[in-house]
Amino acid sequence: MPEPLGQPTPRSTPSPAARGAPDPRRRIAAAYPGGAGLYARLRFLIIRENILAPMDALLPARGRILEVGCGFGLFAGYFAARGEGREVLGVDRDARRISLASRMSEALGLPARFAVSDVRALPQAERFDGAYALDVLHHVPAEHHLGVLRDVRDRLAPGATLLVKEIATAPRLGLAFTWALDRVMAPQDQLSYRSPEDWLALLAEAGFRASARRIRDVLPYPHVLIECVRE
Ligand SMILES: C[S@@+](CC[C@H](N)C(=O)[O-])C[C@H]1O[C@@H](n2cnc3c(N)ncnc32)[C@H](O)[C@@H]1O
Repeated sequence: MPEPLGQPTPRSTPSPAARGAPDPRRRIAAAYPGGAGLYARLRFLIIRENILAPMDALLPARGRILEVGCGFGLFAGYFAARGEGREVLGVDRDARRISLASRMSEALGLPARFAVSDVRALPQAERFDGAYALDVLHHVPAEHHLGVLRDVRDRLAPGATLLVKEIATAPRLGLAFTWALDRVMAPQDQLSYRSPEDWLALLAEAGFRASARRIRDVLPYPHVLIECVRE
């Protein structure tokens, strides 16, 4: 269950669950071939209702949404399918993952498209109604965090929402568990975790009003969801 660390922004849009929107996870995972399909199933077991439901409720139900570092695109597909008129653009530096994401989206006819891009050089001249980064920023070297957040802010209208799902630095055991898995999955990355307080300070510097909530889990991941409003 989410455990508030700050004041969330009040919202008027009913959540997709409240609207009775169907859950697309199974058909999204089934749309990937071989190992990517297995990865998608596992990822949907790790990033579950306790994280997806608040994110789904906080993202705008319609409009253009940017996913920063979308990987195989399963969550871009998920949030696109759950909206009432969302168009999601997912960007990632990994061309193979982007190709698989595009094929999944085309096969299912989802309003999600994908582009190869480093998050430190986002596509120019695109504007969005909302954005999110799910377990990505700690894969980006810390010295680039502020620049990436400012770039995302510049692509959002005042009042628009950015969601940052991250891994907190406490409890230490949870961080060590996540670090070990990240080391196996992305051995080349310079891992840059931050405490929620550190993220909040950085987000304020980047031009966001932000609040963080811990999300409890049966696995020892120290999940934190940061809701940011573009000033
Ligand atoms: C843990 S995966 C998360 C992917 C997806 N958001 C998810 O939750 O399944 C981290 C992703 O960040 C991407 N990534 C890391 N650094 C990046 C950068 N500088 N530019 C673009 N993508 C990056 C990796 O390619 C990888 O797909």
